[in-house]
Amino acid sequence: MLENIDSIGLDFDTELQGVKDLKQLEEIRIKYLSRNGIVAGLFEQLKNASKEEKPRLGKELNALRNSVQEKFDNLKSSIEENSSEESSKIDLTLPGRNRIIGSKHILVQTLEEMKSIFKGLGFSVFEGPELESDYNNFTALNFPLDHPARDMQDTFFITEDFLLRTHTSPVQVRVMQKVKPPIRAIMPGKVYRNEAVSSRSLCVFHQIEGLYVDKDVTFAELKGTLISFARQFYGKDLSYRFRPSFFPFTEPSAEMDITCYLCKGKGCRICKHTGWLEILGCGMVDPNVLENAGVDPEEFTGYAFGMGIERTALLKNGITDIRLFVENDYRFLKQF
Ligand code: DAH
Repeated sequence: MLENIDSIGLDFDTELQGVKDLKQLEEIRIKYLSRNGIVAGLFEQLKNASKEEKPRLGKELNALRNSVQEKFDNLKSSIEENSSEESSKIDLTLPGRNRIIGSKHILVQTLEEMKSIFKGLGFSVFEGPELESDYNNFTALNFPLDHPARDMQDTFFITEDFLLRTHTSPVQVRVMQKVKPPIRAIMPGKVYRNEAVSSRSLCVFHQIEGLYVDKDVTFAELKGTLISFARQFYGKDLSYRFRPSFFPFTEPSAEMDITCYLCKGKGCRICKHTGWLEILGCGMVDPNVLENAGVDPEEFTGYAFGMGIERTALLKNGITDIRLFVENDYRFLKQF
């Protein structure tokens, strides 16, 4: 057996590799290192060795014993460390905790749905800056110098020439300056108005703008596109109508109404007893606007439209206070 010192060392190593816990480790300790264990047995046999062999064998045996003991000690302390108090406190039989999974904000959901419908109609998405020049926000859009919207009371001016855009319509100008017709674009974003916050208005809200510029664009195409959008967005069986209106940047201009969702057209508080709800403004792009943005009005015509995203989400979901969108009340948000 004394000849096997090396192979015993190897056996010990192999057995040690399979050890997972202190109990198994203790079994190996008893097998190799106890008083009647393998190592002690070898020392026992040393007595029978010849005088010449004894010193060498004794030395090898001592080395074996030390190395076995050291490996045992190391493994023991590493197992003990891993099963420290903290981890042994974990009760794996406890049922899991339900995590609250967030959802997209209702305004984001509304915008995403609108975008996907317009993309289906061939529109691409553009964005413009919230800090805008007076020129793009008003002048290029054909607002006369004395228009009330240019008043400080309605607009947040940053300097004399720069302001927080009051609508997404200036992005029309930016797109026309950059892209050659045909242009078919929607432009969503944040807008700012110097208004008192109430159940019907916020001073920061969102709009989505639409623009189509090409040769021979007609009002009929504008109506067709918007009716297709409204049917997909609000439902197939709604009625709609276009009412003449006025915007400085479109001529002719119109507003589009749909049947009131609450009274189904009979007349109620929400629709101010008209049976109709206004959903957007639109019109044929004024030739002055095309010209200001570098598009030849003799060659091209276009239509544009714009709607509020908060307002749209209010109408679609029967929400009566616009402030709910920004209050972050979980009871409100979790409904969507
Ligand atoms: N910019 C208008 C607003 O803020 C909305 C609007 C109306 C946009 C008619 C348009 C349009 O593009 O053609 O009230």
